Amino acid sequence: MSIPIYTYDAIIVGAGLAGCAAARELQTAGKKVAVITKLHPLRSHSGAAQGGINAAFSNKDSVELHEYDTVKGSDYLADQDVVEFMCQKAPETIRWAERMGAVFSRNEDGTIAQRPFGGQSSPRACFAKDRTGLTLLQTMYEQAFRVGVEFWDEWYVADLLYAEGKAYGVAAYNIRNSEYAIFNAKTVMFATGGYARAFKINSNAHANTGDGLSLVARHGLPLEDMEFVQFHPSGLSGNGVLISEAARGEGGILRNSLGERFMEKYAPNALELASRDVVSRAIIQEIREGRGVGPRKDAVFIDLVHLGKDKIMERLPELRNLAITFLGLDMIKEPILISATAHYSMGGIPMNKHGHVRKNNTEYVEGFYAAGECSCSSVHGANRLGANSVLEALLFGRFVGKTMVDDVDNIQLRVATQEDAQRMVDEINWVMTNHGQEHVPALRDELQQSMTENAGVFRTHDTLAEQMVIIESLRERYKHIRISDKSKIFNTELQEAIEFGHMLDYSLFIVSSALARQESRGAHFREDFPTRDDDNFLKHTMAYMDTNGKITLDYMDVTLGKHELKARTY
Ligand code: FUM
Repeated sequence: MSIPIYTYDAIIVGAGLAGCAAARELQTAGKKVAVITKLHPLRSHSGAAQGGINAAFSNKDSVELHEYDTVKGSDYLADQDVVEFMCQKAPETIRWAERMGAVFSRNEDGTIAQRPFGGQSSPRACFAKDRTGLTLLQTMYEQAFRVGVEFWDEWYVADLLYAEGKAYGVAAYNIRNSEYAIFNAKTVMFATGGYARAFKINSNAHANTGDGLSLVARHGLPLEDMEFVQFHPSGLSGNGVLISEAARGEGGILRNSLGERFMEKYAPNALELASRDVVSRAIIQEIREGRGVGPRKDAVFIDLVHLGKDKIMERLPELRNLAITFLGLDMIKEPILISATAHYSMGGIPMNKHGHVRKNNTEYVEGFYAAGECSCSSVHGANRLGANSVLEALLFGRFVGKTMVDDVDNIQLRVATQEDAQRMVDEINWVMTNHGQEHVPALRDELQQSMTENAGVFRTHDTLAEQMVIIESLRERYKHIRISDKSKIFNTELQEAIEFGHMLDYSLFIVSSALARQESRGAHFREDFPTRDDDNFLKHTMAYMDTNGKITLDYMDVTLGKHELKARTY
């Protein structure tokens, strides 16, 4: 039976902030757009962003300070041309979001309220209580829907159509009934989210399996800076659910088992509002040295009691609910237990500031774009500042959408054929019929647990080398999986098996890139190379996977600018 082929000007994979913002731009310019998502759009992970979105528009702040903080936060790995673009466009982006209907928390005088976040010289994070991402996502989805964007909800994209340096669509199946389809277009954008679910303790949605990255890598295209994974300092103890940096921004204090405000030792000026990598390492160090709290002594306290009930209920109501629901602790009355949680992917699909995806250091893939957490522009370098991700997703989603509008009429459609679905069909048939003895949930547990232990906040050559062996062995065992659900209706076992294949692939990128980077920079901390080494490693990693799953590494220059390299202290 032949597989339907649907043709569009633009196909966007992912319906978070980046995807919806881009789709709206394209549709408004009269282009025919499809957004394909494995979720309902409002379940996209952008909606989980809590604390804020950065823009320098108070009179105590400036675009230049925002740039400086971002570059310093990145440990100087960010490309400064992209940082400048983002910081300059940030105030306009907030005003545009407001015009679209987004509601922000306000000061008494009616201006948009801004709260302090880590590593920032001035209160810069605009927010909607502690539900900023959800507010923005609802607005952007509504606006994209209103102008007529076609949403293909609960469709799983299983392959990128790519040949001869050109992207021309995707192959996908309907999760509801396993129907296949080919989506053919002149332009394709990936806005598929990040890859922190490779780690056991993480703050990411169940769906954040990073599929987009390995779909790209499986075509021999590079992934950039994959070793840089952000560990957020405050995940709820035990499950990693995010307790926003807003908790520290509003005045939360971190204490160890001795009641010490331990950040005084690690970041005497910024204290709890040092950059995330610094605070996460401090927390893990306290726990390692025996000053952890909680039943397993693997957490520290964040104390918000002194803020008082009114402020907590006004500014942090969702965080309070989360701590009550998961830990049975009410932050109005007592400190709650937190520890570092894998949170954000600085690495991803390499793109320039216009959103064009790189084929290698000097060439681009025709018709292919990326935005949001799956992409690496690289605006965050080795460590992202809090509240720059919501900004990045919304801003680059919108501006990459504009790039696609400009490009699309100059691109010739490569017409898709039935053969373009073959890789997807083969993969699904293989998962459905394979007769091994291995079960995906058990393999996934082993991967995530070992990634947290060996490639987490602290890394060494030995732990990373051990992790390479573990991943290779899991890849071998993956060949022998078996699923028991053979149905075509909402077959989540099939989907999870495919997703796990992606997790294995990009974990190999994370660990190979981390093993080769013999320095410490931002979120990548090598105990055997504890300092930054600009002579040898002021460069982006570009990693490629061959058809046998072997990774080769190349490097690309960092775009420097007016913010000069310095030692980074807080
Ligand atoms: O802590 C937070 O609210 C997270 C924000 C972010 O990752 O930017």
